Amino acid sequence: HSAVSRRRPVIELKSDDQLRKMRVAGRLVAQILAAVREAAAPGVSPIELDRLAAAMIAEGGAVSSFLGYGGGYGLPPYPAVTCISVNNEIVHGIPAERPLVAGDLVSVDFGLSVDGWHGDSAITFGVGEPDPEREALSEATRQAMWAGIAAARIGGRVGDISAAVERSIRSARTKYGIVADYTGHGIGTAMHQPPDVPNVGRAGRGEQLVKGMCLAVEPMITLGSPNTATLDDEWTVVTRDGSVAAHWEHTFALTSRGLWVLTAEDGGEAELTARGAKFGPLE
Ligand code: MF3
Ligand code: CO
Repeated sequence: HSAVSRRRPVIELKSDDQLRKMRVAGRLVAQILAAVREAAAPGVSPIELDRLAAAMIAEGGAVSSFLGYGGGYGLPPYPAVTCISVNNEIVHGIPAERPLVAGDLVSVDFGLSVDGWHGDSAITFGVGEPDPEREALSEATRQAMWAGIAAARIGGRVGDISAAVERSIRSARTKYGIVADYTGHGIGTAMHQPPDVPNVGRAGRGEQLVKGMCLAVEPMITLGSPNTATLDDEWTVVTRDGSVAAHWEHTFALTSRGLWVLTAEDGGEAELTARGAKFGPLE
């Protein structure tokens, strides 16, 4: 035998009953994100949106996955229940006092747990009159997320998801920067678990996809260069060139029946079916 052992991440596989618990968390994530989006308007500040989300977490009997996160990893504990990243902010934006203004492109990233099971999702939207270039950027990111999810199947590999995300972005009419410094991830009894789910890669590579896996797919793309920098607050990730960025994310499960998008209101039925992927919710 060899002295060299390849380190394989231990991936948490969920039973059907555990997946149903993840769905409870995911549904609440979807409802709260919808409410936050509804409340966002010119003159409303990200910090007010964060307070709305915090109140709904409490009402739903859930626990924020974000608040206090990172304290044990050498990062300052994250101070809010949402990440709200505006314009040139890519991800992990700390909700600001400055009110939103018409034209802002806003990403809201949100995660919580119910009974210890986590859900994590992000949306991007424009405030006020839609700007075509920014709307197209957000839509390309959303399409890439769904392409990635729809590429997953039992017996496949994590690289199938990454390759589909990358291909979707590269096939857009506009050339976008694909942020490679941050990835999607496994999720379950913790928000971040192995394996990483990169937004670029090669099909057929990486961890095998098996029944009971839950993954968060979260492409981030920019109107310019994909290079990132982190602000002095140690959280907010911005584009180095100041270009505007978008971010979308869903948590999904590989069930015995197909794919179940736990943080989508409809479980992913519409978007998966449109892509010829197998929609596989559990009762
Ligand atoms: N939800 C982010 C992700 O998608 C992580 C947020 S970091 C936190 O992985 F500190 F805000 F929790
Ligand atoms: Co995530």
